[in-house]
Amino acid sequence: MDRVGILIVEDEEAQRSLLGGLLRKEGYTVGEASDGAGALALFQKEIFEIVLLDYRLPDTDGLSLLKQIKEINPGTEVVMITAFGSIENAVGALKAGASEYLTKPIDLDDLLFKLRKIEEKTYLVRENMVLRETLRDRFKSEEFVYQSEKMHEVSSLVVRIAKTDSTCIISGESGVGKEVVLNMIHALSERKSFPLIKVNCAAIPETLLESELFGYEKGAFTGAYQRKAGKFELADKGTIFLDEIGDIPLLLQSKLLRVIQEREIERLGGTHPIKVDVRIIAATNRNLEEEVRKGTFREDLYYRLNVVNIVVPPLRERKEDIPLLLDFFLKKYNVKHKKNIKGLTREARDVLVRYDYPGNVRELENIVERAVVLTRGDHISSEDLPNLAEQAMGASDSGIRGTVESLERSMIIEALVNADWVQTKAAATLGLSERMLRYKIKKYSIIKSARPAG
Ligand SMILES: Nc1ncnc2c1ncn2[C@@H]1O[C@H](COP(=O)(O)OP(=O)(O)OP(=O)(O)O)[C@@H](O)[C@H]1O
Ligand SMILES: [Mg+2]
Repeated sequence: MDRVGILIVEDEEAQRSLLGGLLRKEGYTVGEASDGAGALALFQKEIFEIVLLDYRLPDTDGLSLLKQIKEINPGTEVVMITAFGSIENAVGALKAGASEYLTKPIDLDDLLFKLRKIEEKTYLVRENMVLRETLRDRFKSEEFVYQSEKMHEVSSLVVRIAKTDSTCIISGESGVGKEVVLNMIHALSERKSFPLIKVNCAAIPETLLESELFGYEKGAFTGAYQRKAGKFELADKGTIFLDEIGDIPLLLQSKLLRVIQEREIERLGGTHPIKVDVRIIAATNRNLEEEVRKGTFREDLYYRLNVVNIVVPPLRERKEDIPLLLDFFLKKYNVKHKKNIKGLTREARDVLVRYDYPGNVRELENIVERAVVLTRGDHISSEDLPNLAEQAMGASDSGIRGTVESLERSMIIEALVNADWVQTKAAATLGLSERMLRYKIKKYSIIKSARPAG
């Protein structure tokens, strides 16, 4: 078992190196700082589960440093060292969140005993997390349904790379299941008990994307009232998912490249880099090689990300999966809508297997949910299916969300038709940024068509 990391903050050099030597011999990873500023700098760069903190420091006092440490990472255990007899200080430290206190001169056996106790607690918390996640993973993996040879290949690639840390790009048309693949990779990885943080690069306005990803310091810009951790920091030890990576503006692409190379980030307005241990997985439904040729995506970043490329094929190229997916979603929506529909009529199945699904699995899922809601009998019949020729225009949905979305979708189509499909013009009439419009066009699988909006 790896022992935890301990940061010793103590200004007396002799005392510090004595403690450092002892703890290293015990197998702990040890960091040393002689004042508050040095301690914070180290703390932000490396991971320490426990901080051994002298109450009296040259540039600050132990209590305020304790608060700062807890603010950066509330999970950190702090052991406060106070002068002999200053019991008020010790009580104050415990109130402020210290786990233990020791008085000088330090009884080394007592110190080791207390550290061991804290360490065990840390492991227990972690194991608990792992256990919870494992159960959730089992549940999750049942959400990945397939039968086709093509998806079998995808799935075995997922299993092979999950345990590695390699960066990868998941590509495929909208709705094919890229996010399902991502969830599988994370769930099967060693990082599974740590966060999986998802960032949709197309949905976040360009101006906010950088601070979302990297965080900011208090006062970094107007409105930055307090420091905020970015998604990369939140994903530490886990996985970050950069969805719609093709939408990252060029300037940010170079910053991202730096993060991948250096394994560290810098908060906006920050003065020093922060180490992060994050696995990066990106997804796109664009052709990134094409974007590289056009100069809108950095070639070096592309090669850095594309260590492994997982291509999820469109549903029309793996029709064997359709029957299984139909049954899977039928079950899912029976539960959700408290129905007990037994199956699909042969005719309905025929229609659904023959259909081409421009919106892929998501579209199939929407069709099934809608039919489950509409159907009066105990089988879904072809009457419960939408007109699939019109359906080819994009996804439909049910419920209030579906209504809003289909309304939004028709407004967008109308604006596009009126603007002769010039996106800048359509975006202006809709009051959307061009980027948001592009995102929505993709989301709703809107395809340029000669037909008027309907
Ligand atoms: N193999 C599968 N088994 C079960 N459900 C699936 C499968 N593939 C996709 N789905 C479901 O289909 C829907 C769309 O999948 P997902 O969101 O992963 O697509 P995507 O490729 O990320 O799409 P987009 O490009 O629009 O982001 C989700 O509800 C997902 O759960
Ligand atoms: Mg997705």
